[in-house]
Amino acid sequence: MKHSTMATFLLLTLISISVDTKPINPYMKFVHNANNIPDHQEQQPYDYIVIGGGTAGCPLATTLSTNFTVLLLERGSEPTKFPSVLNKQGLLNAFTDDDDGKGPYERFVSEDGVENLRGRILGGSSMINAGFYSRAHREFFESGGVEWEMEMVEKGYEWVEETVVSRPSLSSWQAALRRAMLEGGVGPDNGFDLRSVVGTKTGGSIFDEHGNRRGAVEFLNKVESNNLKVVVEASVHRIIFSGLSATGVSYSDSKGKSHTAYIRKKGEIILSAGAIGSPQLLLLSGIGPISHLSSLNLPVVLHQPHVGEFMSDNPRFGVNIMLPFPLPTTTVEVVGTTETNTHFESLSNFLPFSIPPSFALLPPHSTSLNLSLVVISGKFSKVGSVGSLRLNSSTDVRRSPTVRFNYFTQPEDLAQCVKGLRKIGDLLNTQTMEKIKTADLEGKKRVQFLGVPLPENMADDGLVGEFCRKTVTTFWHYHGGCLVGKVVDGNYRVVGVEKLRVVDGSTFSDSPGTNPMATVSMLGRYVGLKMLRERLSA
Ligand SMILES: Cc1cc2nc3c(=O)[nH]c(=O)nc-3n(C[C@H](O)[C@H](O)[C@H](O)COP(=O)(O)OP(=O)(O)OC[C@H]3O[C@@H](n4cnc5c(N)ncnc54)[C@H](O)[C@@H]3O)c2cc1C
Ligand SMILES: *[C@@H]1O[C@H](CO)[C@@H](O)[C@H](O)[C@H]1NC(C)=O
Ligand SMILES: *[C@@H]1O[C@H](CO)[C@@H](O)[C@H](O)[C@H]1NC(C)=O
Ligand SMILES: *[C@@H]1O[C@H](CO)[C@@H](O)[C@H](O)[C@H]1NC(C)=O
Repeated sequence: MKHSTMATFLLLTLISISVDTKPINPYMKFVHNANNIPDHQEQQPYDYIVIGGGTAGCPLATTLSTNFTVLLLERGSEPTKFPSVLNKQGLLNAFTDDDDGKGPYERFVSEDGVENLRGRILGGSSMINAGFYSRAHREFFESGGVEWEMEMVEKGYEWVEETVVSRPSLSSWQAALRRAMLEGGVGPDNGFDLRSVVGTKTGGSIFDEHGNRRGAVEFLNKVESNNLKVVVEASVHRIIFSGLSATGVSYSDSKGKSHTAYIRKKGEIILSAGAIGSPQLLLLSGIGPISHLSSLNLPVVLHQPHVGEFMSDNPRFGVNIMLPFPLPTTTVEVVGTTETNTHFESLSNFLPFSIPPSFALLPPHSTSLNLSLVVISGKFSKVGSVGSLRLNSSTDVRRSPTVRFNYFTQPEDLAQCVKGLRKIGDLLNTQTMEKIKTADLEGKKRVQFLGVPLPENMADDGLVGEFCRKTVTTFWHYHGGCLVGKVVDGNYRVVGVEKLRVVDGSTFSDSPGTNPMATVSMLGRYVGLKMLRERLSA
């Protein structure tokens, strides 16, 4: 070896040693790419296989790994591959980046015609969302068929919060919104609170004081054992059954090569692929309505009529407003909640889906024009309208299923939207909001709506209802498809088969409180702790 080559060799060794001993994220040491997994069946079976490294899957796998071996399979890549998701400034990318089938944003359009989004990345949708953190409201734990152990719920939330939640320092826009809500009658003022409370509050954020996103991957940094193996770019396409008992999974890597992994005798498989992914995988594995499975020539493991049913999405209603001065990008930091669980939130300098494509270039240039955009949106927790999910392909898990949410097919939903929009109208009439109005030639000050303006006559139910239908978008809080009491029991076990559970937002019949992420992660921790307790005391 020549001297210079030797020196380079030493240097590289030193670099690689220093990289090895101080990885950016400790969890990276147990993350593998599926392409590097040998293509034969894995030698050792696992105690648990978790499908989907998302908002629920990461805390669940971390918890189970305390005492058992766990394989966590995620179809997306590790977040370090997409630096823009790691910072608040990259939030806009969720609405502008193309979906090339590999990136962190998977786009889909429901049959209702509403554009929607889900995460395709380790950490799941918590890596692409708006970052607002708030616990569920009381009613969520009182209905829904689960006998919650509230002490463990509390502990679960605390475990989540110590890892990912920060207290935001309010930006000028969020502070103004807070004042407007209090002036507009959304009281009392609850200060800073992570709980769900009636009135106006500042909630938590998963963006820290430097604007760094602390999504669900952070839970993996809490792993203390050598029990967890995470495989990314691993798309599970089928759960393998022996009779009515789940025994393993079959997944493919990004080169299309197929792999299998199995569980031990006492092991279990947990599906945490989200409200679109979990029902999709049950169907692909032969658990679902027999008519649907047969029409696709899929072998039936179990006729389960409710898989993919009771899908709902909380319609997002509200307005987009142009402001005659610049505002920085802000994520959601403040929320107002009414007694009937309608919630109001806002973002500034942000591109919503409801803006026609011709406006799509506005926000990036708006600072130089000294204009900005604010979006004031409302949502109600309890949605009556339900829809369903069906496979679009019986062979390719990468083809997004067909989903319909049937927005506003229940009259009560429309009534809640009408009421919520009137409240937004009230907010715009507050003293604080006078400052965002611009004067016309006659000097009359008005709100400059971008897109459809609020009806002049807000007292007219018909006009306001029509506005609701015409402008409906999503809060991305869609849920259902594997409901508790329909597809899984109160312990999240799939009814009718063994060794299979579903733990994620697909089990919810109602959206928990203002925003779901807190409760989805708490659920992962909660079920994990219960499974450990059950197994260790057996
Ligand atoms: C744009 C946007 C903004 C949002 N804003 C907020 C907010 O501010 N606050 C809030 O609380 N909530 C917000 N939400 C909602 C919240 O992020 C989701 O409800 C929550 O993250 C869902 O968690 P989950 O575990 O059910 O699914 P996910 O977190 O989506 O996890 C599912 C995981 O499974 C993987 N997967 C799917 N299929 C397979 C397969 N076949 N094989 C292997 N892996 C698979 C996916 O890639 C994904 O990583 C937002 C969501 C979006 C999209
Ligand atoms: C489970 O793991 C914890 C933490 O490592 C350990 O203290 C405990 O003894 C383990 N329990 C059993 C029954 O193995
Ligand atoms: C926009 O406002 C900033 C100060 O906030 C000012 O420096 C700049 O000149 C303004 N730009 C335009 C185009 O008016
Ligand atoms: C799949 O989706 C396409 C359009 O996205 C549609 O034309 C086709 O009918 C769907 N197929 C099935 C089996 O649902």
